[in-house]
Amino acid sequence: MVSRDLVIETKGLRKSFPGVLANDQIDIDIRRGEVHAIVGENGAGKSTLMKMLCGLYQPDAGEIFLNGEKIELSDPGKAIKLGIGMVHQHFMLIPRFSVTENIILGAENSNRGVLNFKKAHAEVEELCKRYEFDLNPKELVADLSVGEQQRVEILKVLYRGAEVIIMDEPTAVLVPQEVDELFKNLKLLVEAGKTVIFISHKLDEVLEISDRITVLRRGQKIGTVNKEDTNKKHLAEMMVGRPVLFTVEKGEADVEGTVLEINDLHYSENGQAILNGVNFEVKAGEIYGIAGVEGNGQTELVETIVGLRKPASGSVKLLGKDITGKEVVDIRKEGIGFVPEDRHKRGLVLPMTVAENSILGKHNSKDLKKSLLLDYKKIEALTKQYITDYDIRVSSPQVEIGNLSGGNQQKVILAREFSGEPNLIIAAQPTRGLDVGAIEFVRKELVKARDAGKAVLLISADLEEVMAMSDRIGVIYNGRITSEFLPEEVDHQQLGHYMLGSEKEGAAK
Ligand SMILES: Nc1ncnc2c1ncn2[C@@H]1O[C@H](COP(=O)(O)OP(=O)(O)OP(=O)(O)O)[C@@H](O)[C@H]1O
Ligand SMILES: [Mg+2]
Repeated sequence: MVSRDLVIETKGLRKSFPGVLANDQIDIDIRRGEVHAIVGENGAGKSTLMKMLCGLYQPDAGEIFLNGEKIELSDPGKAIKLGIGMVHQHFMLIPRFSVTENIILGAENSNRGVLNFKKAHAEVEELCKRYEFDLNPKELVADLSVGEQQRVEILKVLYRGAEVIIMDEPTAVLVPQEVDELFKNLKLLVEAGKTVIFISHKLDEVLEISDRITVLRRGQKIGTVNKEDTNKKHLAEMMVGRPVLFTVEKGEADVEGTVLEINDLHYSENGQAILNGVNFEVKAGEIYGIAGVEGNGQTELVETIVGLRKPASGSVKLLGKDITGKEVVDIRKEGIGFVPEDRHKRGLVLPMTVAENSILGKHNSKDLKKSLLLDYKKIEALTKQYITDYDIRVSSPQVEIGNLSGGNQQKVILAREFSGEPNLIIAAQPTRGLDVGAIEFVRKELVKARDAGKAVLLISADLEEVMAMSDRIGVIYNGRITSEFLPEEVDHQQLGHYMLGSEKEGAAK
């Protein structure tokens, strides 16, 4: 019997891709008016399940019920007509259009009749007011922050009459204040009787906002639990199948000579100063963590070091050698491993295979060649090694990397960049989008690299991570390292304070 207070129910849903059973006999039930989280390791099948619920993928077998009635979702248009809307992680907005224009775009031909812009505008305003979306409907999308763009995406599905709102890792792209704002909106939505299904790797958030949580592991459902009946440790263990350490075990740092030296680095863009005289150094055998609210120059700093941007003045030295303003290929040869924050733009070529991506930027290395040509056997073997070492969930090195789950794409970058004995590892948001088990693994790898005498520069928006991992912490604010600390010198709150502009007395550089 199908129960009435369930808005969505699935029975035996199954979806496979070549070499992977992404969803195996999935039965879930989603109650009306709840926030229901889906958690699980990278590649567990979360996004696949959500894509079937919003009509993007067709199940190989199984059934979906909406309000007790069996439905067929042949495409996303059908799903939204039935009241199921998905908010994607990669926004699909048109920058030159206003908020309202973006929201009504494509809805003109829906069951809402002929387009009346004034009426649409009033409706958008009304939606913003009702659910307290902090947005100006007249503003251009080009001028919006990431959090605001996400609000537009949510409004888009609400405007189309969504009763069930599906969000795939909505908080991965948000800063903490924006997460609070999103949760406020979501609470108002469920109070109004809407249902929210969302995916997240951040278990604290999951426990804060959800009513119930479903855990998937390797394509199978492990269980659904009430928030009250679980905790972070329990959830992590359900996900991974073994206990997970949330703390990083590391001994004293054995610090040696300077590896990276940044002197009075300046960078500007469109006449706007972004780096305003950055000074710091990272020594062999230490992890130097940069803490800061996103948008204070972290991205530009890292990209200037690796040669993706040219500084206006100042210098970057690696092991005493001046590499300021050199080309990326030349800088890489000096032994820098670089994990970029934007993996799609900087780290991977999506239409290429896992094997090809595993050697990106290294294809000129002698080790990978047989006379003048690439040695494909070697590359295949190397990739297989990465797949084993990093537990990358993929059926073969020849799969297009765009088909991997988000977290598994990140692991390919990590494997490539950590290998080959770099002197310096620059890791920007290295654990973003990774599951708890993978985070534990990456943190161990970073400590291992440090213990092997490498210099590690860690940039993370996750304060917890910076505090736990770093041997020294530099706070970046407005394009400068404004204070430096040993981790035992500051607590969370103080660090937050410095991140918002306070400077340590006598220590400003
Ligand atoms: N279009 C596709 N083609 C081939 N394989 C796919 C495709 N989409 C997903 N897969 C595979 O299905 C499995 C489940 O992927 P899915 O994206 O659902 O994982 P996920 O739980 O969302 O992981 P993550 O937390 O990393 O985002 C993975 O092994 C993935 O490589
Ligand atoms: Mg996913």
